[in-house]
Amino acid sequence: MPFSATGGLGDVLGSLPAALAATGKADVRVVLPLYEALSNEWRRQLKEETVFYVPLSWRHQYCGVYSLVKDGVTYYFLDNEYYFKRSALYGFFDDGERYAFFCMAVLEMMEKLQFYPDVLHAHDWQAALSVVYLNCLYRCRPGYENIRTVFTIHNIEYQGKYDFSILGDVFSLGENEHTLMENDGCINLMKAAIECADRVSTVSPRYAEEILTAEYAHGLESTLCRNRGKLSGILNGIDYVYYDPQHDKGIAKTFTARSLHNKAQNKLALQKETGLPQREDVPMLAVISRLASHKGLDLIADCICRIVEENDVQLVVLGKGEARYEFFFSDLQHRFPDKVRALITYDRDLSKRIYAATDIFLMPSRSEPCGLSQMIASRYGAIPVVRETGGLYDSIKPYWIEGTTMHGNGFTFAGYSGEELRERTQAAIAVWRDPNARKALLTKIMKTDFSWGTSAKRYLELYATL
Ligand code: GLC
Repeated sequence: MPFSATGGLGDVLGSLPAALAATGKADVRVVLPLYEALSNEWRRQLKEETVFYVPLSWRHQYCGVYSLVKDGVTYYFLDNEYYFKRSALYGFFDDGERYAFFCMAVLEMMEKLQFYPDVLHAHDWQAALSVVYLNCLYRCRPGYENIRTVFTIHNIEYQGKYDFSILGDVFSLGENEHTLMENDGCINLMKAAIECADRVSTVSPRYAEEILTAEYAHGLESTLCRNRGKLSGILNGIDYVYYDPQHDKGIAKTFTARSLHNKAQNKLALQKETGLPQREDVPMLAVISRLASHKGLDLIADCICRIVEENDVQLVVLGKGEARYEFFFSDLQHRFPDKVRALITYDRDLSKRIYAATDIFLMPSRSEPCGLSQMIASRYGAIPVVRETGGLYDSIKPYWIEGTTMHGNGFTFAGYSGEELRERTQAAIAVWRDPNARKALLTKIMKTDFSWGTSAKRYLELYATL
């Protein structure tokens, strides 16, 4: 963000580097491919740094380096149109080769720019090979000896798995690296980075524990258990400037915890925009998510019909994904035309209007490394209903009243069951309907700190241990 992004990783790399730079304690530089998605507005600001050729097995590939400084961070864009001038960021038959090129280019670039960082921090499988190449191919060259590495797992489901036949031809590695690269009989880039990195982190403390187990690790549990001494979890933050209900120009009416009555204007505006009956007094539920099972969509499908049928509520769904869920929600809209809107698309601006409008936000993920939507929803004054997993567990604590003390900042449940989701959603609706309880809870929710400040400090501490 804001150059090219498809999901949460894009959000994190759009805000963590600036937060690190803002501490004044680090010179932060981000390297990314020069994707086709980069708009002309940004392209015009690029400065040409250098050009060189990247050795990748028998290949000899052009690499242009362009830079841009934003919010105290230097961004380097690596240009090669054969690899990156494509209709999407990833999802191509040759992704293995594309990211091998990228990782090798990152290491080459250090020498060409004479900039050897103290810490190389690689994110997810696409960047995993940079850590591997540093250890296996570059370590003995002058300048590279002291670089330390952190590898961050944003989602362990995507590991970068390939057949061994391309170990030499595409990945430029040999039999010496066979054991390092191997998991379950195939090349596994994430596994190799976990082995090579000095520290491995993931995006919430809870997920760092979960991925030590077979239930969550997608086959990497033994690798992680073996490396658990270097594993930690640091909760993500969100961009408090981009997500700011007090100054957001993209929403109908700005508001704060002290002017919650203004939030209702956003609901009326969204109802108008989507053709739902315009009513302030009806609680609006929302789901903003990739429509995939592991986001808990099956739980929603299990119980949402009953919730909509039995309650005076509205439901807005935004997202695309698996066809069966797209059909499910479109069908639900047909059945309840006055209550349900299924917006089968990915639209950042629209998502902010929904966050601002909605009263209750549903996020019952099966697994969730961190999750940002529950934080964004909270910032925009929506009560989160979440399943207790990963970052959802770390960021949202159960609401309950003990005498005059209020605990928690949302509604949570542990089992993977539609019935529990339904029951907690009913409880959230009940609190929303009680004006005093609603005000007290929303004030607390909106004041919960999900900014990057604390987490950026944690990353600096992690770097310092190296
Ligand atoms: C991935 C995870 C998500 C996390 C994001 C940023 O998209 O699935 O839980 O919030 O990365 O770290």
